[in-house]
Amino acid sequence: MSLIGDQLLKSDKINQLIKDLANETEKNNASISGIKEATSSLKESYKQLMENTAKFRGRPLQYPYIGSGAGKGPFVELADGSVKMDLINGIGIHLFGHSHPRVIKAGIRGALMDVVMQGNLEPNREYAQFSQKLVELASKKSRLKHAWFATCGTMANENALKMARQKNSPAKMIVSFKNAFAGRSTMMAEVTDNPAYKQGLPEYHEVLRIPFYDRKDPASGEKSLNAFKEHLAKHEKNISCFAFEPMLGEGGYMPATREFFVPILEFCKANHIAIWADEVQTFARTGELFAFETLDIGNYVDIVTIAKTVQLGATLYTDEYNPKPGLVAGTFSGSTVSMHTGMEMLDMLVNENYLGPKGRIQDIHNQFISGLNQLNATSCSGKVTDACGMGLMIAFTPFEGKKEQVDLFLKNLFDNGVIAFSCGKDPVRARFLVPACIKDEEISLALKVIEKTILQQNLTTNKT
Ligand SMILES: Cc1ncc(COP(=O)(O)O)c(C=O)c1O
Repeated sequence: MSLIGDQLLKSDKINQLIKDLANETEKNNASISGIKEATSSLKESYKQLMENTAKFRGRPLQYPYIGSGAGKGPFVELADGSVKMDLINGIGIHLFGHSHPRVIKAGIRGALMDVVMQGNLEPNREYAQFSQKLVELASKKSRLKHAWFATCGTMANENALKMARQKNSPAKMIVSFKNAFAGRSTMMAEVTDNPAYKQGLPEYHEVLRIPFYDRKDPASGEKSLNAFKEHLAKHEKNISCFAFEPMLGEGGYMPATREFFVPILEFCKANHIAIWADEVQTFARTGELFAFETLDIGNYVDIVTIAKTVQLGATLYTDEYNPKPGLVAGTFSGSTVSMHTGMEMLDMLVNENYLGPKGRIQDIHNQFISGLNQLNATSCSGKVTDACGMGLMIAFTPFEGKKEQVDLFLKNLFDNGVIAFSCGKDPVRARFLVPACIKDEEISLALKVIEKTILQQNLTTNKT
């Protein structure tokens, strides 16, 4: 006899209703087709909405962005009736853009289940399916064997740190890169190398820094390794883990090579220091599912954290780092909708032509980078420099990369209809987390808006 729960998944009637709902939603969103200015009659109410939001959260939003709930692919409708091209996607959450029909259907199915949030004590079947799926995908090119869910990247990182410290107890120090970002909890703010994110917080002095790869310095690998060696000499047997982003995210979107990482990782292995790759931002974006695959360093990693695109946080770990019962738990494991949509997006990535050197992600990357380089070589001469990144993570340095220049560029870019964000400190860069669903003509449109914005700003700067 089949389960009543299975009827929810297999019932023809329910399946038809889900299809109908998704089709109706798609029809509703069909008229969204490109960048559009705000509707005059909505401007006043939108202004009030902005002010109210700022009042209740205590500070204004970064951009005048409040979504209406409608969107299509890279385009999103805001509550003032304007349509923007969203090339930051909630800082990397919406890998397939807005209102993707398959994501909508998976979300509806998740919403039909008996509980909204699943717990670690009483999970549903999705919990088992999702952890199996993640481990199967992660273990293809690594020794990772287990997955533990968390509700965000920060909590996945907290769990990773606890696992590393417990296994290597009593070692407590963490080695991480200069300009690293690890999240917003007290401890992850400490791992993050940005004083602006921890003003007024006490310092715990548990993080040691090594420099990241510098492509302009042939000795950069050696310098990083030497810095690590000096830390170990001072903190012998007290370094629990090396926590690193395969490409610095908030730190500036400058990719590093395999040759840079390998000697550092070999050194960690030789000294029993846990190797923890924070893939919260890189996961699903670099052309392979994991950046450790793109960089071919999978056999080194002991712990890997992911979040954002999978709609949940997760810590993946080897048998050796499987913690003792009691170390990681928590009420929530994640929402049922997150589990359904996260699994659906993984299936789309793996089963359609997105991954690999000839996959769509790499194709999107190449089109963006060559388009940006082209602007730098022609109309925007010298104002669109160092375009690089990995896969769907793309950045360039506008003008001279000064904070006020980039802030103004991003504000103007938003006004012109494209949403991006900054990263890095010196220089500050404009970064894009491009959705995998973007079409070629939409890439051309994005490049045109970037060009227009650079030229406008150039003109006003030259006038003043
Ligand atoms: C590399 C990295 N680690 C951790 C985090 C924190 O993730 P969350 O914001 O989901 O807590 C982020 C978020 O941007 C990140 O980029």
